[in-house]
Amino acid sequence: MSEVVLSVEKLMMHFGGIKALNDVSLQVKRNSIFALIGPNGAGKTTVFNCLTGFYKASGGKIEVNVRGEQTNVIKLLGESFKPTDFVSPKSFASRLYYKMFGGTHLVNRAGLARTFQNIRLFKEMSVLENLLVAQHMWVNRSLLAGILNTKGYRKAESDALDHAFYWLEVVDLVDCANRLAGELSYGQQRRLEIARAMCTRPQIICLDEPAAGLNPQETEALSAMIRLLRDEHDLTVVLIEHDMGMVMSISDHIVVLDHGIVIAEGGPDDIRNDPKVIAAYLGADEEEVV
Ligand SMILES: Nc1ncnc2c1ncn2[C@@H]1O[C@H](COP(=O)(O)OP(=O)(O)OP(=O)(O)O)[C@@H](O)[C@H]1O
Ligand SMILES: [Mg+2]
Repeated sequence: MSEVVLSVEKLMMHFGGIKALNDVSLQVKRNSIFALIGPNGAGKTTVFNCLTGFYKASGGKIEVNVRGEQTNVIKLLGESFKPTDFVSPKSFASRLYYKMFGGTHLVNRAGLARTFQNIRLFKEMSVLENLLVAQHMWVNRSLLAGILNTKGYRKAESDALDHAFYWLEVVDLVDCANRLAGELSYGQQRRLEIARAMCTRPQIICLDEPAAGLNPQETEALSAMIRLLRDEHDLTVVLIEHDMGMVMSISDHIVVLDHGIVIAEGGPDDIRNDPKVIAAYLGADEEEVV
């Protein structure tokens, strides 16, 4: 239970002269809910962008340790993208993903998926298509198998559909399967992003402000879903969230960032009463402290 699945050591991220992250270290335990909190501009999304390969970190080490394999994320991003097969549907989907998500697509293969603070869906595709394209790296089909419509090809297609509908059910979007993703309400789009991330079959899912814009009932349902991911799907959840009620009720471990530096870490009770944390939030926005 205490195995570390994600290890970050002395992570640095510079934007020109700005040090957005300065020696950030954290360890995420397998099958836990880990929260990264801090005032606006603290560097939370930048940590996610580095972890998931959206940015290449300026320094430090990020190691993903799942399915018995260790992946050095920063090294992985240094290797160039080489699609092996130029004509298969799998390769096409890979390119589409690369265009939309950059290196995130590569880190995804190592077992880490994410959602975005500013939702990124294929808005012109249907809800179902968003979930099918997310499975391209698991559905190992060649163009030839497609043309010949082999048994293996049909099985892969039907498995992908089953998987998509399984997650549509979990996020309560079955009725919207054929609607365009861009037509969904904000809350539905957030849920679809989670389903899409799950369709890549990750071991770790990073959620960037999943409760933003949700009403209290939706937030409650989201908390239940996050617990379900941990408890029934053996997942590790890394969560960025400003809703402190939610963070304190579901997190196993919390790390607090301020100005790109880790200022505190511990369980919800430690964090709630930590004077450094209270001061950081008060300095930023009094209403954020609950
Ligand atoms: N691509 C970029 N170019 C330049 N500066 C950036 C870039 N991305 C982030 N920053 C800067 O890094 C700092 C941290 O930003 P980040 O988005 O990580 O904060 P955050 O903690 O996620 O905040 P919020 O709670 O508002 O989402 C900010 O000062 C931001 O302006
Ligand atoms: Mg952010």
